[in-house]
Amino acid sequence: MGNIDTVFDLEEAAKFVGLSLEEFKLRVFDLKIPGSKSGQFKKSVLTKYFESANTEGYDSHVIAISNQKGGEGKTTISLYLAEALAENHKVLLIDWDPQANATQLFISEDVPSVMDYLGYRGKKPKNIEPAIRNISTNFDLLPSTLELANLTTPYERDDFELLKEAILPLRSSYEYIIIDCPPSLGLILENALICADYILVPIQTRAFSLQGIRDLYETIQKIQRKANQRLKLLGAVLNQFEGQKALAGLAEGVKKYFPVFDTVIQRRESIPQAQAKMSFLSKIDLTTMKNFRELASEVKEKINVQKN
Ligand SMILES: Nc1ncnc2c1ncn2[C@@H]1O[C@H](COP(=O)(O)OP(=O)(O)OP(=O)(O)O)[C@@H](O)[C@H]1O
Ligand SMILES: [Mg+2]
Repeated sequence: MGNIDTVFDLEEAAKFVGLSLEEFKLRVFDLKIPGSKSGQFKKSVLTKYFESANTEGYDSHVIAISNQKGGEGKTTISLYLAEALAENHKVLLIDWDPQANATQLFISEDVPSVMDYLGYRGKKPKNIEPAIRNISTNFDLLPSTLELANLTTPYERDDFELLKEAILPLRSSYEYIIIDCPPSLGLILENALICADYILVPIQTRAFSLQGIRDLYETIQKIQRKANQRLKLLGAVLNQFEGQKALAGLAEGVKKYFPVFDTVIQRRESIPQAQAKMSFLSKIDLTTMKNFRELASEVKEKINVQKN
């Protein structure tokens, strides 16, 4: 087998990806698919842009970090799991929270609203690639802005799939895509869970952390049943852990709903410090960074098991 690539004309290409000619032309325009000028489309290029339409064989793992409770460690785990994974893999961190906490750590100037790219309420979706910023080796960020808070009401069926659609053309460019979700149940979270392959739930090790876990569990089940059968539960990660005492009871409570990671994230002052200094964790505290490398290894292991 050489590397000869079949070339299709417009009609053949539309047929190949299973779209009508009109739909295909729109996609070509929106996604800026190479070949649109010449009208000649390489099979390899079409496969890259449309693989989700044809196969389940994504080459990136999309992980939503979710818990509708505030302050459980979603942003912290998103940031440092992404940082740890980026030591060996190409990673995109999606800040999918109107609070834009992750974004503010890396970007001080105003950025265009992510809403401008999504195609909500009759707007035309735009190629989201120009919105992405490189923040260090192997580590890209899709920033958020407060306007994301306007994503509240589904007007059309497509409004549940805005994020999924937006990142489809990017999926082959990253090995891991991490979505930092907001502390709420609603359309923003639903978009994340419909886009994701996996979900990881950070839970702070303290009293009351179990409140709301059942609601989250039910939301996940609903999404799995109705909108995203690919969505798999990676499990819960206990955060801000300070000693064995509290663990047994809490972990048991969590296990009723979610499998619990062996790795626990310790409570460490260097974490808020790194965030206040807008620094990468590896630059501030290697011991704590190791804790997140351990988490990254367990995430990879769990994904390997679930994939097969
Ligand atoms: N393991 C830890 N050790 C010490 N502080 C931590 C740890 N994890 C998180 N924090 C701190 O707790 C606060 C809340 O964490 P974080 O912002 O990650 O939670 P969140 O779930 O993203 O919150 P929100 O729901 O508002 O998005 C932050 O100030 C963070 O620095
Ligand atoms: Mg957060």
